[in-house]
Amino acid sequence: MVQLNVYPEQNFTVGPQLFGSFLEHMGTVIYTGVYEPTHPTATAEGFRGDVLQLVQALGIKTLRYPGGNFTSSYHWEDTVGPKDQRPKRMNIAWQSLETNQFGLHEFFSWAAQAGIDNPILTVNLGTRGIDDALNELEYVNGRFDTYWANKRRQNGHPEPFGVKYWCLGNELDGPWQVARQTPEAYGLLANETAKAMKLMDPQIETILVGSSTPNLDSYPEWDFKVLMAAYDNVDFIAMHNYIDRAQSENLDQEAVRAADDLPTYLAKSLSFDRQIDEVATIADAVKALKHSDKTMKISFDEWNVHHFSQKQPTPWGEHNPVDWCYFDLADTLLFGSMALAILRHGDRVKLSCQALLVNTIPLILTDEAGAAWANPTYYVLQALLAQLSDESRVLKTDLIGAVTYDTAEFLAVPMIDQVLIDTGTSYVLFAVNRGEETQTLAITLPQPAVSGQHQVLCGALDAQNTREHPHTLTPQTKPLIVATGAVAQQVSLPGYSWNVVTFNY
Ligand code: AHR
Repeated sequence: MVQLNVYPEQNFTVGPQLFGSFLEHMGTVIYTGVYEPTHPTATAEGFRGDVLQLVQALGIKTLRYPGGNFTSSYHWEDTVGPKDQRPKRMNIAWQSLETNQFGLHEFFSWAAQAGIDNPILTVNLGTRGIDDALNELEYVNGRFDTYWANKRRQNGHPEPFGVKYWCLGNELDGPWQVARQTPEAYGLLANETAKAMKLMDPQIETILVGSSTPNLDSYPEWDFKVLMAAYDNVDFIAMHNYIDRAQSENLDQEAVRAADDLPTYLAKSLSFDRQIDEVATIADAVKALKHSDKTMKISFDEWNVHHFSQKQPTPWGEHNPVDWCYFDLADTLLFGSMALAILRHGDRVKLSCQALLVNTIPLILTDEAGAAWANPTYYVLQALLAQLSDESRVLKTDLIGAVTYDTAEFLAVPMIDQVLIDTGTSYVLFAVNRGEETQTLAITLPQPAVSGQHQVLCGALDAQNTREHPHTLTPQTKPLIVATGAVAQQVSLPGYSWNVVTFNY
């Protein structure tokens, strides 16, 4: 039997803001995803009521908007004011027509109704620059009798929106990006933009563009160079990573390759652990070189498993479903391990955004004029968020006698991937069983348990939640037989499963 040792004295706190999501003007994320005025469930503002309900039940607090690649050529001011006067534009990042019927005010209203209190906005540092970022900041957060703040008031919002987190552009290292930049040019621009934005509003925190993926040749040199240029004026370095079972990981080649075998695929979350450690190491090197007292936080603001679209793209329509897809159980197990990698590094990763919330590699799927339902990955994020409060502490643990396996890329991959937290009233073990066999864990808790429960998500590896069968992969909760009043406990984790095991104390 595997023994889980817990070290309660070695811990750090994490809150629900750690696990956020992302809305981009891309595909059908916004139009027919969250906004569809003619939908039978539409609210007076045109928001899909069925999607709002699913998002409320998900429990996210953090949401990044409005992109993504979209932001590198967008004009924020097109999105405000009377709807019938907003210009229609070409969304050149995603080959669609942008009507701007859902803009900044709609976003803030939707987010408030969805329970989000921690929005992250991205400014356009692709085709635009410092002046535009300052105008947007003044519009959103401005308190004084000034031009853009007054425009916001005229448009129906007297109070500042009070956005704290600001991304200084998006993926400007990527060959696909509109207005890609060199690290030298971007570092200087980001530093000066962050400096100016903080002169306007000292309460904000800024997020520097890090490498778009560890699979670009410029990783991690990009991160080092931009941090050297902008360290003093930024608070976070951004990280992005998507893992696809069959797409080439060399983004300079864009080739489809042979699909990973299952053990390899499920081990790929270890690249998240490695990337977080590498980015933190680079940031700490810059901290030392600069003799700085500040430790750079990480915003892992795009992460997910990835698949190609299962719908036919329709370029230059108003909603081009570029990335609509189902996830199966194998994807969900990897997704769970990715989330655990983030939680395990919650002392350093202070924000993360699963990408994206609706219809593009999504948590929630919608049919235009029809149903909304959840991919199984939704339930993983929901389970994590349900347990996290500002009091939650991640405890250090060790697995003794654990089964491991090797892949071509990773040695000694733990068959059980786990993180244990203390919520203040219970110990909660999140665990993925990467293997076929049931694994039994003996756990010695820091204090005796009085009751417990075990939530499991498992099934056929290729099972999916479809519009016809939306609940095929949903978590099942059962009582856990605990040794009452004892610290020594035991739990069995079924083969190929995501688990949330709660020991109340
Ligand atoms: O899938 C979302 C896109 O992926 C974002 O726009 C971009 O930042 C990333 O490349």
